[in-house]
Amino acid sequence: MSQNHNLDATWQYHSGTKHSHLSVRMDPHVLDWDNKPLLFKIYPTLEVLRLPKDFHETGSPALSAIAAPNSAAEGNSVPDLETLAQLLFFSAGVTRSKKHAQGETFFRAAACTGALYEIELYVVCADLPSNDQRPTDPPALPAGVYHFGAAEFGLRQLRSGDFRQAIVEAAGGEPSLAHAPVIVICTGTYWRNAWKYRSRTYRHFGWDNGTILANLLAMSSASKLPAKIITGFVDSQVNTLLGLDTKREVAFSLVSVGCTSSPTPKVPAIEKIELPIVAYSEREVDYPAMRKMHEASSLDSAEEVAAWRGKTPPHPSASAKGTATELRPLDDSAAPDTIEKVISRRGSTRQFSRDPLTLAQLSTILDRPTRGIPADFLDPSGARLNDLYLIVNNVVGLSPGSYFYRWEENQLELLKSGDFRDKAGYLGLEQQIPADAAVDVFFLADLKKILGRYGNRGYRAAQLEAGILGGRMYLAAYSQKLGASGLTFYDDDVVNFFSPHARGKSAIFLMALGRSVARK
Ligand SMILES: Cc1cc2nc3c(=O)[nH]c(=O)nc-3n(C[C@H](O)[C@H](O)[C@H](O)COP(=O)(O)O)c2cc1C
Repeated sequence: MSQNHNLDATWQYHSGTKHSHLSVRMDPHVLDWDNKPLLFKIYPTLEVLRLPKDFHETGSPALSAIAAPNSAAEGNSVPDLETLAQLLFFSAGVTRSKKHAQGETFFRAAACTGALYEIELYVVCADLPSNDQRPTDPPALPAGVYHFGAAEFGLRQLRSGDFRQAIVEAAGGEPSLAHAPVIVICTGTYWRNAWKYRSRTYRHFGWDNGTILANLLAMSSASKLPAKIITGFVDSQVNTLLGLDTKREVAFSLVSVGCTSSPTPKVPAIEKIELPIVAYSEREVDYPAMRKMHEASSLDSAEEVAAWRGKTPPHPSASAKGTATELRPLDDSAAPDTIEKVISRRGSTRQFSRDPLTLAQLSTILDRPTRGIPADFLDPSGARLNDLYLIVNNVVGLSPGSYFYRWEENQLELLKSGDFRDKAGYLGLEQQIPADAAVDVFFLADLKKILGRYGNRGYRAAQLEAGILGGRMYLAAYSQKLGASGLTFYDDDVVNFFSPHARGKSAIFLMALGRSVARK
């Protein structure tokens, strides 16, 4: 029997990893730079199959790509190898690098806490063609299980053969997987992020996986491929297929990409694989609280998964008590850059200028990302787990103060007027970034309701949804040549600040938005 409905596990983990003014002083953490983990997973004994990098242009404006994910699993849309390469590059590829005193950081397409990039991607696929495939050619990518090597921009084959049915079964027959020629599996590697963030890393799995998925969904939409996120699966079956050492790395989410009418073949025998990998650090520190949280949110059987999936708890919100301002989002012509161009120029703002956003710019950043995420925990489409609360510091057309985003009505409800810049800086872990931003968007969720419906697994889903929305906000901001940064926060102080409206909810995520000070 799984522990999924023993909810003490989540409450213990969540409370035990809260930040507060006191906790960061009572329990400071000094970084051991000599033991900093490697930023890549490398299998030294496997050959790399280099991926093509001569991408075709999708021509899709970023704002459309973010807002219109395509989840309809019908017809025949099989990505060729070039398209798969493009999806992987703009989701988790190395887009720039920077030398510094401690070495060199290779930044990736999606934002990640501490630039530690603990999320790894794997591909389980059918035979895939090339973009100029002739009927007699062998497949450009033979069916198999592959690890995506971001460092080399290549794939390493872990298993040869078509193993998709193993994932379909692990996910309790989830229909989008049953028709997907490509399944992307995202895993989290504890130590790679825990080196800096210790036990809080399990929350970061959701955030950092989410920003990657925001890009992957947008790129799939721009490439006219259906895609859907699946968080319900039998953990042990997926981990075994990838040959993971689960004390160190675990599967976190799956994505079905494309659609084919051919049925998935019977699964070949799944032999045990134990492949050597290059050590991340000289020594690794174990933080058992995360493994406990992961185990308590694991699902044990296909029947449990099938029963787990589906109907999101309803999200009624009381009628607005404060003044409500209608959002006025821009259309694509105001920000026509393609999704690839926007992902390529994205980076987290290191300093905001305190200059204002317009209401139209903010409206666009709220409206496009919140039009629905195709995911197995969001049913019907358009359902959601998180609520958005804002501190507005400087937006033309909105008085400074705290606000609640009325999602269905596309309105901002004023909760409290006032200058909360200093407060925003404090709530964002006493950093300058949230104090200087034009707007800070706090994500809060009613965990009691979510866990009641989905068990501990709902905690993974709430963190992941926040990461996806946050990742989309990055893209909506950068498509308008504005700045953005994810941030961490003082949990209970955030909830108290937005109470009584937010009473009973939990702080999940934070995004700062505004205008960046140009870097020298
Ligand atoms: C969820 C999340 C939380 C973050 N928290 C902070 C933070 O508290 N302070 C900060 O300076 N940067 C923060 N960042 C920004 C990361 O440091 C940044 O994404 C990383 O260095 C990679 O750089 P890039 O986003 O420019 O590609 C956060 C990013 C994410 C995605």
